Amino acid sequence: MRWCVTPAVIGGQTHVPGDKSIAHRALMLASLASGFSRVDRMPAGADVHSTAQCLRQLGVDIRIDGDAALVTSTGRLSPSRAPLDADNSGTTMRLLAGILAAQPFTSCLIGDESLSRRPMTRVVEPLNSMGASIHSNKGGAPLEIHGRQLHGIDFTLPVASAQVKSAILLAGLFADGITSVLEPHRSRDHTERMLAALGVEIEVENLRATLRGCQAPRAFTMSVPGDLSSASFLVVAAALSGGEVTIDDVGLNPTRSGLLDVLREMGADVEISDQRQEMGEPVGRLRVGGRIRRPVTVEAAQVPGLVDELPVVVLLATQAPGTSVIRGAAELRVKETDRIATVAASLRRLGADLDEVADGFVVRGPTALRGCNVSSHGDHRLAMLLAVAGAIADGETVVDGVEAADVSFPNFAEVLRSLGGTIEHL
Ligand code: S3P
Repeated sequence: MRWCVTPAVIGGQTHVPGDKSIAHRALMLASLASGFSRVDRMPAGADVHSTAQCLRQLGVDIRIDGDAALVTSTGRLSPSRAPLDADNSGTTMRLLAGILAAQPFTSCLIGDESLSRRPMTRVVEPLNSMGASIHSNKGGAPLEIHGRQLHGIDFTLPVASAQVKSAILLAGLFADGITSVLEPHRSRDHTERMLAALGVEIEVENLRATLRGCQAPRAFTMSVPGDLSSASFLVVAAALSGGEVTIDDVGLNPTRSGLLDVLREMGADVEISDQRQEMGEPVGRLRVGGRIRRPVTVEAAQVPGLVDELPVVVLLATQAPGTSVIRGAAELRVKETDRIATVAASLRRLGADLDEVADGFVVRGPTALRGCNVSSHGDHRLAMLLAVAGAIADGETVVDGVEAADVSFPNFAEVLRSLGGTIEHL
């Protein structure tokens, strides 16, 4: 499927789907809790559906009622004869690997072609040192997981990764003794916040998270905050097109909101109001408007706080007067696509002046973008990035492979249209 996008001012008020990272964790924690849990505002994207389907195969009763997931669990998982398919979802595969490493049975986790190319040694090694026996296919999926009684571990992550940190912490819930994870830079902390909100004793001190084994979360009811990563496409479209967008009920976790700091630094107006907490997560109303007036420098320590937003930061930089530099972002090379290569090549086709470096980008702006034919390369964030680029590029931008957006934001085109975007399905 293709989108045809032409220039428009993006503005207005809207919601975005529930946060994908939080929704995966909510389904997993509800499955580990004994009793009935209700998760409202479940995102309809394919990634979260993969997590729900894997958990059903592991014996958990998960029903969907409107946008709510109703989860009934004994708190114990049972073996699945068939492989568990994470499809395109790295979070499903890596976090489930942590849980399955501690179960008294064998499981097999598989994924699509893109996920099968992504590195899994980063979870296999620490989980095996806790006592599991996990075999990968040359460091990637499929993962054959022979669960064992695990032992606590004190592990230093070589790269900041919330997925790896979470896999170890979830395994640690079942382990003997203490499990502690130290990360080089702060990555998203949804697992820590949600575990604490659900009665698990977990200590977080600077870059270290520590928990005692043999603990389980309690059953719960929650509403998933809106996904700031999905909102990022809309707020960047507004800031670049001269509009103003308000997103209600969006997650504002400070380990996820690096894009808001970048927008402020580049001259945009960012306002947060109506803040509240949901399951330990800050939620509120976000308004973004104003203009991009300055370039930006993003360093390694900031990268985990906006790792999924770096593609839109590069687009912002193409419109900022001066040279922007993003470095310490080599992790982008092992996302759904090599996002340093795919973002640089796609934006260059549209007329951007930028260099791809080993761990980031050097972008010179401002440059006028011109519409042309581009492809998502099967990557949801690239599909939406290119639609936003199309909203500020001269003429028509045709984006191929846009069904990729369904993994996180299935109604993206409709929401963009409701904000004034001219985006048609071809
Ligand atoms: C995620 C963590 C990040 C992020 C991904 C979701 C999570 O990945 O890019 O989209 O839910 O924990 P890494 O842990 O590989 O950095």
